[in-house]
Amino acid sequence: MIRFFHRLSIFLYCAIVIATTAVLLYIGSSYYKLSIEARYFHPYHQMLDSGGLVGHGLGIIGTLFILIGLFSYMARKRLKTFSRVGELKYWLEFHIFLCTEGAVMVAFHTTFKFGGIVSIGFWSLAIVWISGVIGRFIYVQIPRTIEGRELSLQEVKDMRDEMDIVLKNKYGINSATINTVSRFHLGAELKAQNITRKEFYHVKRMVLNERALNFRIKRLVNMQSLFKYWHVIHLPFALIMLIIMVIHVATVLFFGYKWIF
Ligand code: HEM
Ligand code: HEM
Repeated sequence: MIRFFHRLSIFLYCAIVIATTAVLLYIGSSYYKLSIEARYFHPYHQMLDSGGLVGHGLGIIGTLFILIGLFSYMARKRLKTFSRVGELKYWLEFHIFLCTEGAVMVAFHTTFKFGGIVSIGFWSLAIVWISGVIGRFIYVQIPRTIEGRELSLQEVKDMRDEMDIVLKNKYGINSATINTVSRFHLGAELKAQNITRKEFYHVKRMVLNERALNFRIKRLVNMQSLFKYWHVIHLPFALIMLIIMVIHVATVLFFGYKWIF
């Protein structure tokens, strides 16, 4: 049941981001393609411009999404009060969804014209987003507890050894030997070792998990240090983006932009 809702949430996250991009492109592509001067004569200028009803709204809602995506994840990860509210990996997916949806909205808010200090804020957002995608690949290579704590090399080795013992004692399978068999021939090999029909898929999954753990053990130390360096890009650029965004919002408020208020 949890698996179903998890898959549904991922599907909805992707569908919402794709639908937002498609709708905004459909409505505004003829406007965004024009030069800055020609835009003034476009019928949607008042609406789609960065300070217009839709353009300004996209900036505000997109920024709110990014802030919620950012601070909800940080609160869940760092504050004891929230440490039991859902698994950390689901919160990371929510972080990725809200920050991506927010970044798409902010991109349309800029109407793809970049000038002044605020464009540095936009490019920082782009760098944070791209580094986020790379970080996500590294993140999944590092085994963690349900609470999201990284496992040490020794803990991962212990997990692998426990699996080896179960495979040996319960099913009579020697991990070192079975690991020489290719994935393609694994089914036939397990049948040859008299694994019953009932247990076949369970044992096959265990053998494959054991292989995946061996693969990760070989790369764990490298991945952990790579992930430390990765934070050095993702965090500072997020901070630069936030500081410039605060200055930008203060400036536009100073010049009297109020959106619907
Ligand atoms: C990460 C968040 C944001 C980024 C990267 C961003 C970026 C930009 C950019 C690149 C422009 C066009 C500047 C130009 O005309 O050369 C712009 C304009 C504007 N932004 Fe934002 N923005 C963000 C958030 C916001 C928010 C939250 C608000 C509202 C409070 C806002 C209100 C405006 C307004 C009113 C303009 C039009 C200013 C004008 O035409 O002089 N922006 N923004
Ligand atoms: C675009 C706006 C984004 C901002 C401002 C942002 C900001 C942050 C910050 C400040 C953290 C550190 C949280 C902490 O350690 O407490 C973080 C973690 C992370 N973010 Fe983002 N992020 C953004 C988008 C993304 C995207 C698009 C992805 C992936 C596709 C992503 C993937 C990650 C990952 C994997 C972590 C590490 C989680 C961990 O170490 O526990 N982020 N992000």
